[in-house]
Order: sequence, then C-alpha cells, then structure tokens
Amino acid sequence: MSENKTDRGFTLWFTGLSGAGKTTVSRIVAQLLRERGKKVEILDGDVVRTNLSKGLGFSKEDRDINIRRIGFVCHLLSRNGVVAVGAAISPYQAIRDENRALIGDFIEVYARCTMDELVKRDVKGLYKKALAGEIKGFTGVDDPYEAPQNPEVVFDSDQETPEQSAAKIMTKIEELGYLEPAKSASGYTAEEESKVNERLKSLGYL
Ligand code: ADX
Repeated sequence: MSENKTDRGFTLWFTGLSGAGKTTVSRIVAQLLRERGKKVEILDGDVVRTNLSKGLGFSKEDRDINIRRIGFVCHLLSRNGVVAVGAAISPYQAIRDENRALIGDFIEVYARCTMDELVKRDVKGLYKKALAGEIKGFTGVDDPYEAPQNPEVVFDSDQETPEQSAAKIMTKIEELGYLEPAKSASGYTAEEESKVNERLKSLGYL
C-alpha cells in the first residue's frame, strides 16, 4: 500500500469513447465517495460543453482546449481537498499527460468498450450518423482515439456491470492511499478479510 494521502484531494480522470460508460460509472463512484465523506465535483464533457466550453467544436484544437480547461478546473478543485472527476472522451494521450503533470494527484481511468458494442448501444444515435457520414470527425469512427498507455484503472463496460467497474475504481483509490480502506460488515477491511479467509482455508475451515 502507498503512503497515506486520505486528506488530499485528487483527480479521477475518465477517458474513453462516447457511450463507453464514463458518465454512468463516474456518477456511481462520485456517490460512493460522498458516502465515504469526500467532497466530489464531476466535470462531464457533455455538460462542460454547455457552459465552460460552450462554442467549442470537435477539431483537435478545440478538443485540446476543452480538455485543458477541464484539467485546469480539476487542478483548482484537487488542490483544495476536493475529488475532481473529469469525464470527457479526451482522445489525446499528450493532453491527458499534461493534465497529469499539472495536477499530480491524478488517477486515469480507461472506460473500454468494443466498437461493436458501442454501435449496438448507440444511446444517442450518433454512431449511426457517423457511420453514415452524416457527422464528420466522430471519435473512434473517423477521428482518432489514443487509448491510455498506463492508466491506473481499466474497466470493460461490455463485460462488467457499472457497479463492478465502480468497485474496481474504489479499490484502486484505496490502494493508492487516497481513501481509508472500507470496513465490511465483519468489521475487517477487504485486505484483512482476505488474510483471514486465507488463514481459515489453510486450517481447513473453508
Ligand atoms: S472531447 O473529445 O473534447 O473530450 P467531450 O467528451 O467533451 O469530447 O464530448 C463528447 C460528446 O460530444 C460525445 O459523447 C457526443 O455526445 C458529442 N459529440 C458530438 N460530436 C462529436 C464528435 N465529432 N466526436 C465525439 N463526440 C461528439
């Protein structure tokens, strides 16, 4: 386990294609963190683009500005003890890395999903339009998406439930020392519980 940083703010940075589960999972994680006493603010791409980034489009230049703005606000929040959650496609590794360098306390979460599944879901109907050529420069169709090279967490939204993905992220936050490990109903942390179980198993009780 890393050093104890449980009083510090940090940024949880979701990246992934449109419809991969960034918004859904970030909301669950935000709720779980609030239940554990954290102050949390979500900066979601779709929302930010209606205010802070209103007027920006989807050229590389505009996306970079959008991601830097979100990163800057996450930086301000994180350094004041808040958990800032960024949830935007953020397709370029270099700009995500810029935000990591600026913020320091930065946890990158890759919302991964196959294109087949995204096209099948197509919640907003945008993939259909992009594939028909009605929207140009759509991420993952005819615009780049650079998958993270070293994300702290990866979840596969076509293979796990949003709750499972959220639990995975919570465990990583604990492992990195930003959150006290949760006690289970037994009063043990997950780590203690697995040790107890191992011991019981070795003694033949389980
Ligand atoms: S980012 O590239 O700048 O990080 P952001 O997350 O803010 O993107 O916005 C993505 C959302 O905008 C998508 O979920 C989708 O609803 C909408 N959108 C509209 N046009 C595009 C496009 N060309 N590429 C990707 N998303 C688009």
